[in-house]
Amino acid sequence: MKKVQQHLPKIYVTRKIPADGMKILNQSGLHCSCKSWMGHPPIYRESLLKGIRNLIYCLLSDKINKYINKSIGPNLKIVSTMSVGYDHVSLEELKKRGIRLGYTPDVLTDAVAELTIALLLTTSRRLIEAVDEAKNGGWGTWKPLWMCGYQLSQSTVGILGLGRIEGVAVAERLKPFGIKKFIYSDIAPLPEIAAKIQAEYVPLDVLARESDFLTVCCALTPETQSICNKHLFSKMKPTSVFINTSRGGVVNQDDLYQALVSGQIAAAGLDVTVPEPLPTDHPLFKLKNCVILPHIASATLSTRNAMAALAANNLLAGLKGEPMPKELRL
Ligand code: DGY
Repeated sequence: MKKVQQHLPKIYVTRKIPADGMKILNQSGLHCSCKSWMGHPPIYRESLLKGIRNLIYCLLSDKINKYINKSIGPNLKIVSTMSVGYDHVSLEELKKRGIRLGYTPDVLTDAVAELTIALLLTTSRRLIEAVDEAKNGGWGTWKPLWMCGYQLSQSTVGILGLGRIEGVAVAERLKPFGIKKFIYSDIAPLPEIAAKIQAEYVPLDVLARESDFLTVCCALTPETQSICNKHLFSKMKPTSVFINTSRGGVVNQDDLYQALVSGQIAAAGLDVTVPEPLPTDHPLFKLKNCVILPHIASATLSTRNAMAALAANNLLAGLKGEPMPKELRL
Protein backbone atom coordinates (compact mmCIF):
# COMPACT_ATOMS: atom_id res chain seq x y z
CA MET A 1 0.00 0.00 0.00
CA LYS A 2 2.82 2.32 0.98
CA LYS A 3 4.58 1.66 -2.33
CA VAL A 4 1.51 2.65 -4.42
CA GLN A 5 1.18 5.84 -2.35
CA GLN A 6 4.76 6.81 -3.20
CA HIS A 7 4.02 6.71 -6.90
CA LEU A 8 0.92 8.87 -6.79
CA PRO A 9 1.42 12.22 -8.55
CA LYS A 10 2.01 14.87 -5.93
CA ILE A 11 0.38 18.29 -6.10
CA TYR A 12 1.79 21.11 -4.02
CA VAL A 13 -0.37 24.18 -3.37
CA THR A 14 1.80 27.05 -2.20
CA ARG A 15 -0.83 28.90 -0.12
CA LYS A 16 -4.29 28.72 1.35
CA ILE A 17 -6.36 29.40 -1.77
CA PRO A 18 -10.02 30.44 -2.22
CA ALA A 19 -12.54 27.68 -1.53
CA ASP A 20 -13.67 27.11 -5.13
CA GLY A 21 -10.15 26.11 -6.16
CA MET A 22 -9.57 23.78 -3.23
CA LYS A 23 -12.96 22.14 -3.75
CA ILE A 24 -12.07 21.29 -7.35
CA LEU A 25 -8.74 19.79 -6.31
CA ASN A 26 -10.23 17.82 -3.43
CA GLN A 27 -13.17 16.48 -5.39
CA SER A 28 -11.31 15.64 -8.58
CA GLY A 29 -11.44 11.91 -7.85
CA LEU A 30 -8.00 11.62 -9.41
CA HIS A 31 -5.40 9.50 -7.72
CA CYS A 32 -2.94 12.03 -6.48
CA SER A 33 -1.76 13.43 -3.19
CA CYS A 34 -2.33 17.10 -2.51
CA LYS A 35 -0.43 19.13 0.09
CA SER A 36 -0.79 22.82 0.86
CA TRP A 37 1.32 25.42 2.60
CA MET A 38 -1.08 26.75 5.21
CA GLY A 39 0.98 29.67 6.52
CA HIS A 40 0.07 33.25 5.78
CA PRO A 41 3.34 34.76 4.60
CA PRO A 42 4.55 33.74 1.15
CA ILE A 43 5.95 30.26 1.22
CA TYR A 44 9.62 30.04 2.09
CA ARG A 45 11.92 28.69 -0.57
CA GLU A 46 12.96 25.66 1.55
CA SER A 47 9.36 24.63 2.13
CA LEU A 48 8.62 25.11 -1.54
CA LEU A 49 11.53 22.88 -2.47
CA LYS A 50 10.52 20.28 0.08
CA GLY A 51 6.90 20.45 -0.91
CA ILE A 52 7.10 20.29 -4.65
CA ARG A 53 6.97 17.01 -6.41
CA ASN A 54 5.17 16.81 -9.74
CA LEU A 55 2.65 19.61 -9.95
CA ILE A 56 2.73 23.09 -8.44
CA TYR A 57 -0.27 25.31 -7.85
CA CYS A 58 1.39 28.67 -7.20
CA LEU A 59 0.73 32.39 -6.85
CA LEU A 60 2.37 35.43 -8.39
CA SER A 61 4.53 35.87 -5.30
CA ASP A 62 6.23 32.47 -5.72
CA LYS A 63 9.31 32.66 -7.90
CA ILE A 64 9.47 29.58 -10.11
CA ASN A 65 12.91 29.97 -11.56
CA LYS A 66 16.04 28.14 -12.56
CA TYR A 67 17.14 27.46 -8.99
CA ILE A 68 13.85 25.91 -7.98
CA ASN A 69 13.47 23.88 -11.13
CA LYS A 70 16.99 22.49 -10.80
CA SER A 71 16.49 21.52 -7.18
CA ILE A 72 13.25 19.72 -7.92
CA GLY A 73 14.79 17.67 -10.66
CA PRO A 74 12.99 16.06 -13.53
CA ASN A 75 9.80 15.23 -11.61
CA LEU A 76 8.10 18.57 -12.04
CA LYS A 77 5.65 18.36 -14.93
CA ILE A 78 3.04 21.06 -14.44
CA VAL A 79 2.97 24.58 -13.01
CA SER A 80 -0.37 26.30 -12.59
CA THR A 81 -0.29 29.90 -11.47
CA MET A 82 -3.35 31.61 -10.00
CA SER A 83 -2.60 34.81 -11.92
CA VAL A 84 -2.81 36.30 -15.37
CA GLY A 85 0.79 37.55 -15.04
CA TYR A 86 3.57 34.98 -15.32
CA ASP A 87 6.65 37.16 -14.95
CA HIS A 88 7.46 35.25 -11.71
CA VAL A 89 7.96 32.08 -13.74
CA SER A 90 11.05 31.46 -15.86
CA LEU A 91 9.49 30.51 -19.21
CA GLU A 92 12.87 29.59 -20.63
CA GLU A 93 13.48 27.09 -17.85
CA LEU A 94 10.02 25.57 -18.16
CA LYS A 95 10.38 25.21 -21.91
CA LYS A 96 13.79 23.57 -21.58
CA ARG A 97 12.38 21.03 -19.15
CA GLY A 98 9.12 20.40 -20.96
CA ILE A 99 7.07 21.71 -18.04
CA ARG A 100 3.57 22.94 -18.94
CA LEU A 101 2.21 26.23 -17.59
CA GLY A 102 -1.40 27.15 -16.81
CA TYR A 103 -2.46 30.71 -15.95
CA THR A 104 -5.72 32.64 -15.40
CA PRO A 105 -6.45 35.27 -18.06
CA ASP A 106 -9.93 36.74 -18.71
CA VAL A 107 -11.59 35.84 -15.40
CA LEU A 108 -10.06 38.86 -13.64
CA THR A 109 -10.52 41.42 -16.41
CA ASP A 110 -13.67 43.04 -14.98
CA ALA A 111 -12.28 43.31 -11.45
CA VAL A 112 -8.98 44.79 -12.69
CA ALA A 113 -10.74 47.27 -14.97
CA GLU A 114 -13.07 48.39 -12.15
CA LEU A 115 -10.14 48.94 -9.81
CA THR A 116 -8.23 50.84 -12.49
CA ILE A 117 -11.14 53.28 -12.81
CA ALA A 118 -11.37 53.61 -9.03
CA LEU A 119 -7.65 54.30 -8.75
CA LEU A 120 -7.72 56.77 -11.64
CA LEU A 121 -10.54 58.77 -10.09
CA THR A 122 -9.04 58.59 -6.60
CA THR A 123 -5.77 59.94 -7.96
CA SER A 124 -7.08 62.53 -10.39
CA ARG A 125 -9.70 63.94 -7.99
CA ARG A 126 -7.29 63.80 -5.03
CA LEU A 127 -9.73 61.80 -2.91
CA ILE A 128 -7.26 60.55 -0.27
CA GLU A 129 -5.92 64.08 0.28
CA ALA A 130 -9.46 65.48 0.41
CA VAL A 131 -10.64 62.94 2.99
CA ASP A 132 -7.56 63.68 5.12
CA GLU A 133 -8.20 67.42 4.90
CA ALA A 134 -11.84 66.96 5.89
CA LYS A 135 -10.89 64.83 8.90
CA ASN A 136 -7.91 66.85 10.03
CA GLY A 137 -9.29 70.36 10.06
CA GLY A 138 -7.95 71.52 6.69
CA TRP A 139 -11.51 72.12 5.42
CA GLY A 140 -11.94 75.87 5.78
CA THR A 141 -14.29 78.10 3.84
CA TRP A 142 -15.09 77.08 0.26
CA LYS A 143 -12.21 78.17 -1.95
CA PRO A 144 -12.33 78.28 -5.76
CA LEU A 145 -9.00 76.58 -6.36
CA TRP A 146 -8.74 74.31 -3.36
CA MET A 147 -8.44 70.54 -4.03
CA CYS A 148 -8.81 70.99 -7.76
CA GLY A 149 -7.95 67.91 -9.73
CA TYR A 150 -8.15 66.74 -13.33
CA GLN A 151 -11.27 65.92 -15.30
CA LEU A 152 -11.94 62.95 -17.57
CA SER A 153 -14.46 64.57 -19.88
CA GLN A 154 -12.85 65.95 -23.06
CA SER A 155 -9.55 64.33 -22.13
CA THR A 156 -7.18 62.12 -24.10
CA VAL A 157 -6.61 58.74 -22.48
CA GLY A 158 -3.48 56.81 -23.41
CA ILE A 159 -3.23 53.05 -22.95
CA LEU A 160 0.17 51.44 -22.83
CA GLY A 161 -0.39 47.82 -23.89
CA LEU A 162 -3.67 47.13 -25.64
CA GLY A 163 -2.81 43.51 -26.38
CA ARG A 164 -4.00 42.48 -22.97
CA ILE A 165 -7.76 42.51 -22.64
CA GLU A 166 -7.63 44.85 -19.59
CA GLY A 167 -6.80 47.83 -21.85
CA VAL A 168 -10.05 47.52 -23.78
CA ALA A 169 -12.04 46.84 -20.60
CA VAL A 170 -10.67 50.01 -19.00
CA ALA A 171 -11.45 52.08 -22.11
CA GLU A 172 -15.01 50.73 -22.33
CA ARG A 173 -15.64 51.78 -18.75
CA LEU A 174 -14.11 55.22 -19.30
CA LYS A 175 -16.07 55.98 -22.45
CA PRO A 176 -19.25 57.15 -20.65
CA PHE A 177 -17.17 59.84 -18.92
CA GLY A 178 -17.00 61.67 -22.25
CA ILE A 179 -13.41 60.93 -23.26
CA LYS A 180 -12.37 62.93 -26.33
CA LYS A 181 -9.88 60.41 -27.68
CA PHE A 182 -8.26 57.06 -26.90
CA ILE A 183 -4.70 56.48 -28.08
CA TYR A 184 -2.49 53.45 -27.46
CA SER A 185 1.02 52.09 -27.87
CA ASP A 186 2.03 48.47 -28.14
CA ILE A 187 4.71 46.40 -29.88
CA ALA A 188 2.72 46.90 -33.12
CA PRO A 189 -0.69 48.31 -34.10
CA LEU A 190 -3.61 46.09 -33.11
CA PRO A 191 -6.37 47.32 -35.48
CA GLU A 192 -8.99 44.71 -34.58
CA ILE A 193 -8.74 45.29 -30.85
CA ALA A 194 -8.39 49.07 -31.26
CA ALA A 195 -11.55 49.21 -33.39
CA LYS A 196 -13.62 48.13 -30.35
CA ILE A 197 -12.82 51.42 -28.63
CA GLN A 198 -11.90 53.57 -31.66
CA ALA A 199 -8.37 53.96 -30.37
CA GLU A 200 -5.55 55.34 -32.48
CA TYR A 201 -2.11 53.72 -32.52
CA VAL A 202 0.73 56.14 -31.71
CA PRO A 203 4.45 55.75 -30.92
CA LEU A 204 5.38 55.77 -27.23
CA ASP A 205 6.69 59.35 -27.31
CA VAL A 206 3.39 60.61 -28.73
CA LEU A 207 1.47 58.57 -26.15
CA ALA A 208 3.43 60.31 -23.41
CA ARG A 209 3.06 63.75 -25.00
CA GLU A 210 -0.67 63.62 -25.73
CA SER A 211 -2.17 61.63 -22.85
CA ASP A 212 -3.99 63.49 -20.11
CA PHE A 213 -4.35 60.13 -18.39
CA LEU A 214 -1.81 57.43 -19.16
CA THR A 215 -2.75 53.96 -17.96
CA VAL A 216 -0.34 51.04 -18.09
CA CYS A 217 -1.93 47.70 -18.99
CA CYS A 218 0.99 45.80 -20.56
CA ALA A 219 2.57 42.64 -19.19
CA LEU A 220 6.06 42.76 -17.67
CA THR A 221 8.53 41.33 -20.19
CA PRO A 222 12.19 42.08 -20.93
CA GLU A 223 10.90 44.61 -23.51
CA THR A 224 8.62 46.45 -21.08
CA GLN A 225 10.96 46.39 -18.05
CA SER A 226 11.33 50.04 -16.87
CA ILE A 227 9.66 51.30 -20.06
CA CYS A 228 8.10 54.09 -17.98
CA ASN A 229 11.25 56.01 -17.15
CA LYS A 230 12.57 59.58 -17.10
CA HIS A 231 12.49 59.73 -20.89
CA LEU A 232 8.76 58.96 -20.93
CA PHE A 233 7.91 61.17 -17.93
CA SER A 234 9.84 64.10 -19.43
CA LYS A 235 7.51 64.02 -22.44
CA MET A 236 4.32 64.04 -20.34
CA LYS A 237 2.24 67.12 -19.53
CA PRO A 238 2.50 68.69 -16.05
CA THR A 239 -1.24 68.10 -15.77
CA SER A 240 -1.18 64.42 -16.70
CA VAL A 241 -2.04 61.51 -14.42
CA PHE A 242 -0.13 58.22 -14.58
CA ILE A 243 -1.81 54.94 -13.54
CA ASN A 244 -0.22 51.49 -13.26
CA THR A 245 -2.18 48.33 -12.48
CA SER A 246 0.05 45.93 -14.44
CA ARG A 247 3.41 45.23 -12.81
CA GLY A 248 5.74 47.48 -10.82
CA GLY A 249 8.70 46.44 -12.98
CA VAL A 250 7.44 48.42 -15.98
CA VAL A 251 8.16 51.63 -14.06
CA ASN A 252 11.47 53.09 -12.97
CA GLN A 253 10.30 54.20 -9.53
CA ASP A 254 13.18 56.63 -8.92
CA ASP A 255 12.33 58.38 -12.19
CA LEU A 256 8.65 58.41 -11.26
CA TYR A 257 9.47 59.94 -7.88
CA GLN A 258 11.49 62.70 -9.57
CA ALA A 259 8.69 63.35 -12.08
CA LEU A 260 6.18 63.69 -9.23
CA VAL A 261 8.26 65.96 -6.97
CA SER A 262 9.43 68.18 -9.80
CA GLY A 263 5.90 68.64 -11.16
CA GLN A 264 6.79 67.04 -14.49
CA ILE A 265 3.55 65.09 -14.10
CA ALA A 266 0.58 65.86 -11.86
CA ALA A 267 -0.05 62.60 -10.04
CA ALA A 268 0.36 58.83 -10.06
CA GLY A 269 -1.81 55.95 -8.92
CA LEU A 270 -0.08 52.60 -8.45
CA ASP A 271 -1.54 49.22 -7.59
CA VAL A 272 1.81 47.52 -8.18
CA THR A 273 5.33 48.38 -7.09
CA VAL A 274 8.83 46.98 -6.75
CA PRO A 275 9.23 45.43 -4.28
CA GLU A 276 5.89 44.23 -2.98
CA PRO A 277 5.12 45.10 -0.30
CA LEU A 278 6.68 48.52 -0.80
CA PRO A 279 8.53 49.42 2.44
CA THR A 280 6.43 51.83 4.48
CA ASP A 281 9.30 54.34 4.57
CA HIS A 282 9.57 54.44 0.76
CA PRO A 283 9.75 58.06 -0.52
CA LEU A 284 6.73 57.52 -2.82
CA PHE A 285 4.55 57.06 0.28
CA LYS A 286 5.48 60.58 1.38
CA LEU A 287 4.01 62.23 -1.70
CA LYS A 288 0.50 63.62 -1.61
CA ASN A 289 0.21 63.24 -5.37
CA CYS A 290 0.93 59.52 -5.32
CA VAL A 291 -1.75 56.98 -4.37
CA ILE A 292 -0.43 53.49 -3.67
CA LEU A 293 -2.59 50.40 -3.29
CA PRO A 294 -1.35 46.97 -2.16
CA HIS A 295 -1.83 45.03 -5.44
CA ILE A 296 -5.59 44.55 -5.06
CA ALA A 297 -6.78 44.95 -8.65
CA SER A 298 -8.28 41.46 -8.84
CA ALA A 299 -9.34 41.36 -5.20
CA THR A 300 -13.06 40.66 -5.27
CA LEU A 301 -14.37 37.43 -3.80
CA SER A 302 -15.99 36.28 -7.02
CA THR A 303 -12.88 36.98 -9.11
CA ARG A 304 -10.45 35.37 -6.69
CA ASN A 305 -12.68 32.28 -6.56
CA ALA A 306 -12.87 32.20 -10.36
CA MET A 307 -9.07 32.49 -10.59
CA ALA A 308 -8.62 29.73 -8.02
CA ALA A 309 -11.04 27.44 -9.87
CA LEU A 310 -9.42 28.07 -13.25
CA ALA A 311 -5.95 27.41 -11.84
CA ALA A 312 -7.24 24.15 -10.32
CA ASN A 313 -8.84 23.06 -13.59
CA ASN A 314 -5.63 23.89 -15.47
CA LEU A 315 -3.66 21.76 -13.05
CA LEU A 316 -6.02 18.79 -13.23
CA ALA A 317 -6.15 18.91 -17.03
CA GLY A 318 -2.36 18.86 -17.02
CA LEU A 319 -2.36 15.92 -14.67
CA LYS A 320 -4.65 14.00 -17.01
CA GLY A 321 -2.47 14.91 -19.98
CA GLU A 322 -5.29 16.93 -21.53
CA PRO A 323 -5.24 20.49 -22.95
CA MET A 324 -5.61 22.99 -20.13
CA PRO A 325 -8.53 25.47 -20.22
CA LYS A 326 -5.89 28.26 -20.22
CA GLU A 327 -2.40 27.12 -21.04
CA LEU A 328 0.47 29.34 -22.08
CA ARG A 329 2.12 28.06 -25.23
CA LEU A 330 5.83 27.97 -24.45
C1 DGY B 1 -2.42 38.81 -11.85
O1 DGY B 1 -3.21 37.85 -11.77
O2 DGY B 1 -1.36 38.74 -12.45
C2 DGY B 1 -2.84 40.08 -11.22
O3 DGY B 1 -1.79 40.96 -11.05
C3 DGY B 1 -3.52 39.82 -9.89
O4 DGY B 1 -4.12 40.99 -9.44
